Amino acid sequence: MFPASRSRRLRRTEGLRRLARETTLSPKDLVLPVFVVEGANRREAVAALPGVERMSCDLLAARAAALKVGALLIFGVPEAGDKDADGRVAADPEGLVPRAVRAVKQAAPHLPVITDVCLCAWTRHGHCGLLDGAGAVANDPTLKALGAMAAAHAAAGADVVAPSAMMDGQVAAVRGALDQAGFAETAVLAYAAKFASVFYGPFRDAAHSAPQSGDRQAYQLDPANGRAALRDALLDEAEGADWLMVKPALPCLDILARLREATRLPLMAYQVSGEYAMLKRAAQAGAFAERPAVLEAVTAIKRAGADAVITYYAEEVARWIET
Ligand code: PBG
Repeated sequence: MFPASRSRRLRRTEGLRRLARETTLSPKDLVLPVFVVEGANRREAVAALPGVERMSCDLLAARAAALKVGALLIFGVPEAGDKDADGRVAADPEGLVPRAVRAVKQAAPHLPVITDVCLCAWTRHGHCGLLDGAGAVANDPTLKALGAMAAAHAAAGADVVAPSAMMDGQVAAVRGALDQAGFAETAVLAYAAKFASVFYGPFRDAAHSAPQSGDRQAYQLDPANGRAALRDALLDEAEGADWLMVKPALPCLDILARLREATRLPLMAYQVSGEYAMLKRAAQAGAFAERPAVLEAVTAIKRAGADAVITYYAEEVARWIET
């Protein structure tokens, strides 16, 4: 009890604070999401995400070679003409994402590569799965398409595939498709607790993947539900996931902390596009300095239970913590 007990003693100097620090960031904990487009020497700014660019495979490979982060997470942004009702091009072994994976692996052989496995960028309707006759997202027919997409990514050399469509059974389907195609060593990162979040808005501008009608509430989790999120995550573990993800990150620190207690698998959290945009624009407007704000947010995500954090700030954070 006070006065014998004074917790300020360990906060007195920077040296003591460093010594008592429970959570630290390292470049290996950071995963950089990137958007790849067709063409050569092509780069496009994303209006909704200041500082983020879509780039062609060659530029992405050159960038990867210079990166000091833990991994890349690749999203394909196909040409409008390559989209169809079923997202068939997504499973093309010579498609955009497989080509990007090969280019990155050649330029940066030791950088782990994760790929997003979802149909929303590849279908004209912009939903994460195939539609049935009534226009609803049909769970079971989608599973085969996701499995084929994952196998195409694995064949190109992806280390980890990340199914994000929020179909029931998608982890088992992807695991089965990988094993059947001879990719037993390719890991599955499950978007285990992915909420129907308004914070994905800027991403849909970056990936041209907004649903053309309706929303994603019939398949993504209700942000009001914590128990349901844990249930979904543990089902993904039972289906064979190697790694579980919570998304978005800062609005879901409670989910991360509870999931940390409920599983022994490694956890990732995705600081999504809207979280990035909030920090970026608030800093630009003078609300606070960008660097300490970002470091505080990313550290909090790790403190809550994430082993690694997917963030559009990955490269900057890696630089900040090294200097
Ligand atoms: C694909 C997918 C989305 C995000 C990651 N994978 C968009 C969505 O579900 O609509 C969002 C990432 C972000 O906002 O940064 N389904």
